[in-house]
Amino acid sequence: MKLRVAVLPGDGIGPEVTRQAVAVLQAVSDVCGYDFRFESRLIGGTAIETEGRPLPESTLSACLESDAVLLGAVGDRKYDHCTGPMRPEAGLLALRQALGGYANLRPVRSYEAIADCSPLREDVVRGADILIVRELLGGLYFGQPRGIENEGLSACNTMRYDVYEIQRVAHIAFQEARKRKKHVTSVDKANVLETSQLWRGTVNEIAKQYPDVQIEHAYVDSFAMQLVTTPARYDVVLTENLFGDILSDEAAVICGSLGMLASASIGGRVALYEPVHGSAPDIAGRGIANPLGAIQSAAMLLQYSAGLCEEAEQIIESVQRTLARGSVTPDLAGRRKRLPSSTDAVGKSVVETVTDLLQRQMAYHAV
Ligand code: NAD
Ligand code: IPM
Ligand code: MN
Repeated sequence: MKLRVAVLPGDGIGPEVTRQAVAVLQAVSDVCGYDFRFESRLIGGTAIETEGRPLPESTLSACLESDAVLLGAVGDRKYDHCTGPMRPEAGLLALRQALGGYANLRPVRSYEAIADCSPLREDVVRGADILIVRELLGGLYFGQPRGIENEGLSACNTMRYDVYEIQRVAHIAFQEARKRKKHVTSVDKANVLETSQLWRGTVNEIAKQYPDVQIEHAYVDSFAMQLVTTPARYDVVLTENLFGDILSDEAAVICGSLGMLASASIGGRVALYEPVHGSAPDIAGRGIANPLGAIQSAAMLLQYSAGLCEEAEQIIESVQRTLARGSVTPDLAGRRKRLPSSTDAVGKSVVETVTDLLQRQMAYHAV
């Protein structure tokens, strides 16, 4: 098994958490005798500093030549006053567009070992296991026209969806639902927006091809409330780009920390894996960032880009065992007031656990 991974650590805590995710992948490669190769490239603010733009040509070509891309985070306060293509975030959006992954999968699970870390009651979050399928290349993020107008007195963004953009992401949502509890909640604002009316109609058409999957629709405002009231009720949640961005950060409170959430952007030329969180400038450089969102993104990479589902499951199992041991970063201190560990210590625990689990599995299969 040969796998070439382009690694884009990016800004803030990006390099801190990506290092741990790469260490976990390297451990899998070593134990199983695979040949994983990692090539690191610049993106975001660090790329602006050295190359003058957030997505250098050399970064994009390395990504397009790889089997998968693993990204940390982009964003730097230094560029907060900038608009347009010189923002670090513009580099990430351009990368997503070039790689073509239109379906952004964001799993949200409440792990029993850290159920007390959610500000929600434990009985509310217990059993929650949601897959948010966020449309990633359409809507307000990319619609034209856009810009600052009228000498800075007006600004414009365009919310636009074509039927094919809704169809292709809806197929992914229904296919993912088939692997799970066979239920899709499509979230829109069809009582107000034409784009949402097109969305709902198109999703209903696609649903006919999946008669074994149950479909329901919800308005985004009421869904935002339901999500944190009865999270265990949902399975796959399908939604457009901006709603998905907002709802996934909200969903992070179900599992206790934004640092826990992973993502995979699939459907394009090369899939992109990144934690849901950003560069977290408030804690960057202190060695306390939660690496588990990045590590679980690496597990998704093995699952979706390498078909290594067993190994991916063992990484998730190792994450759960690490949490159960109380080895957590400060964002997961919780009501049980665990003693916080460093990013390195949590990463090391996952590496050691996955190494042990895979070695045992190989020994078992050898007899
Ligand atoms: P953020 O996600 O960086 O941080 C929000 C809060 O969550 C902060 O308090 C932060 O400390 C905490 N947090 C985030 N990740 C954590 C982790 N792994 N461990 C522990 N705590 C964690 O969002 P923000 O502060 O609104 O944005 C900061 C910058 O990141 C901005 O420039 C934004 O545009 C960018 N951003 C980038 C991405 C990405 O690269 N995919 C995603 C979101 C935001
Ligand atoms: C995310 C981020 C990005 C988004 C930004 C940094 C462009 O918030 O991945 O959730 O809005 O998609
Ligand atoms: Mn976001």
